[in-house]
This record gives sequence, structure tokens and C-alpha cells, in this order.
Amino acid sequence: METPEPQAVCGPITHSVIFLVATLAPGDEAAARVRAWCPGISALVRSVGKRVPSANLSCVCGFSSGAWDALFGEPRPASLHPFREWGPSGRLAVATPGDVLLHIRADRADLCFELATRLLEPLGDAVSVVDEVHGFRYFDMRSMVGFVDGTENPAGREALAFTIVGDEDPAFAGGSYALAQKYLHDMKGWNALPVETQERIIGRTKLSDIELDEAVKPSWSHSSLTTLEENGAEVKILRDNMPFGRPGAGEFGTYFIGYARSPAPIEHMLEHMFVGNPPGNYDRLLDFSRAVTGGLFFVPSADLLAALAARGPQPARVADVADTSVSLPEACHDGSLNIGSLKGSA
Ligand code: HEM
Repeated sequence: METPEPQAVCGPITHSVIFLVATLAPGDEAAARVRAWCPGISALVRSVGKRVPSANLSCVCGFSSGAWDALFGEPRPASLHPFREWGPSGRLAVATPGDVLLHIRADRADLCFELATRLLEPLGDAVSVVDEVHGFRYFDMRSMVGFVDGTENPAGREALAFTIVGDEDPAFAGGSYALAQKYLHDMKGWNALPVETQERIIGRTKLSDIELDEAVKPSWSHSSLTTLEENGAEVKILRDNMPFGRPGAGEFGTYFIGYARSPAPIEHMLEHMFVGNPPGNYDRLLDFSRAVTGGLFFVPSADLLAALAARGPQPARVADVADTSVSLPEACHDGSLNIGSLKGSA
């Protein structure tokens, strides 16, 4: 059987983005409205996007673990669970409320704006938007902290292989997992560092974006702690971080979004960044960056998204009722993730 068509997970790199995270209102009526909305998403993307075909408008829609149960019930994606928090209290990857994720990308901010408006309209009070971030591409793919971001992303067939669910979960083939976090930066502190120190923190040179030699790259660099290997091969995720901010309010941020065919590699990276590898050897980028939101979502294939309206309401599973407020780091320390270890470590 052919793999169902994925949503635009591996969509092109664009200049603008809107991230919307919404919670689902209680009750059958709200759930029915969200289900009925799902099949219309692709038509809205076509209607808005065709007005400026060169602007590459796309939209990815995902659902949290709790929302999946409340909206669609069984069967459910095999690896979907509430977001797991990582790290000590002063350096925590927080879980925050959020049931529906919309990742809207285009080369023009007006298309993102129009699509976001059109998508939210039919939902009415069936959802409440709890986070909305309008991001922009910053010069030559720079992150807010001034380094080129996205260099090591997989591309083409490799990107599909790392992000799209296949035979491991046949009912959800063509789907993907998205982990999203909003970070705020202490730019004053970051900019006070010598460029050489910043480069050791990221693990790459700032101007030319060349990876530092392993001999000089610290084990606590962002690059070292987010490089994963399984059976001698690198396990990658697909990232499309976007800077955002309000200079007048002193807000400078990075919206992180990572896609993978299982949440495990992204969670493993988070563990290394926030807890450390070994514990304590954490990512020094976090001394200047604070995660203020966190959510894990399943992104059904485009075909399944179109068919979800036919699913019925199901009672939520007890385990997911507390959903975003729970912290489950111990669940990730039993070695069961089995996605390999840090490059060069045992
Ligand atoms: C404060 C938020 C973040 C910023 C500003 C940031 C920035 C960067 C930069 C500048 C690079 C180097 C260029 C590149 O290969 O893309 C990078 C690499 C990378 N980041 Fe992040 N990142 C952030 C958060 C995260 C998070 C939360 C994860 C995963 C959970 C992550 C995973 C990765 C990976 C896998 C690489 C490639 C590493 C390699 O192969 O060398 N990043 N990031």
C-alpha cells in the first residue's frame, strides 16, 4: 500500500511564519466543531495560497495527546504522549497547555496572516488560542542569537526518512511528531560575551558557520549535545526555528519546532540540553535562553486529516487528564527510548 500523503512537514524554508497553539473547549459541541473543521484546512491553504503561488504558503496541523483522545479516540498514534518536562527547576523545559498546533509558513507575512484568520474563523469558541507567535527570517538564516540556524537539517529524501512515520505504525503512516517550544533570550548577557565564547557555546563559527573541530568543541556545546547516534549512524530531526520579538518590550525570542517520526530523538536532545550529558554537563545556550512554552503534537498525514471528521467522540484516557501539567522525566531514564547515544559517548 502507498504511504499516505504527509502534510507540509518538509515544506520549503520561508521568510515568515505564524505559530498558533490553542486549547480545546470542553464538551461534545466543541469537539464536533474541531472534527468538522479538519477536512477544510487544505482547501483554505489552496484558496489563500493560489492568490500568490510564488509565496509557498503551507500549513501543518497537529494535535496533543489529550486532544487526540477527546477528539478522535482509538486508534491513537503509537508514540503520542503528553509533553515531558526536563531539567532542574532553574533550567526547565516546561510543559504548557496546548491541544491544537498550527504551523503556517509563507514567504509573505500577509499570506500567513490571512490563512491564520481564515482557519480560526470557523472554530469560534471551540478553541482558545493560548499562544500566537509571528516569526520572521533574520538575514542569512540567522537565529536571534546571531548564528546561522538550520545548517545541519536533513533535506530531500533524508528529511522524509527522518520525519515521516512508516511501517512502525501503519495506521498512522504519513504522519509525523512535532515538538514546539518558545524561548526568550537574555540578549544583553549574550551580546556581552566575546564572539569566541559564543562560538564555543554553539559549536560553530559565527560569521562563516563552520563546525568547530572536535578537538576544540566543548562537550557542552549546543552542537555536541544535540548530535545523536544510533548504531553508528546519526539520527536527525527537521527543525524550522524562527526568530520573533518586540524590541520595544525588550522581547527577543526563538520559536523552536522540531519534526521527527517519533518524539524520542527530540526528547533525547532536550534531555541532553536541559539535564546534561552526563547530567550537569548541560547546554550553555540555556544560560541565555529560557523555555516559556512546550508541547508535543501528532501531525496526521494529509489524507488522515481529511478523514478525521468521520471519527466519533471518545472519553479521554485517565492518564491524559492532567496532560500538560505533569512532569514525567523518570519515564525517559529507563533506556527504553533506544535511539542511540551522543556522538563519541558510550
Ligand atoms: C534557544 C533555542 C535554540 C537556538 C537559538 C538554536 C540554534 C541552533 C544553531 C545556531 C545551530 C547550528 C546550526 C545548525 O546546524 O542548525 C543549531 C543546531 C542544532 N540544534 Fe538548535 N537551537 C535551539 C534549540 C534547539 C532545541 C530545543 C533542539 C532539540 C531539541 C535543537 C536541536 C539542534 C540540532 C539537532 C542541531 C544540529 C546539530 C549538529 O548536527 O551539529 N536546537 N541550533
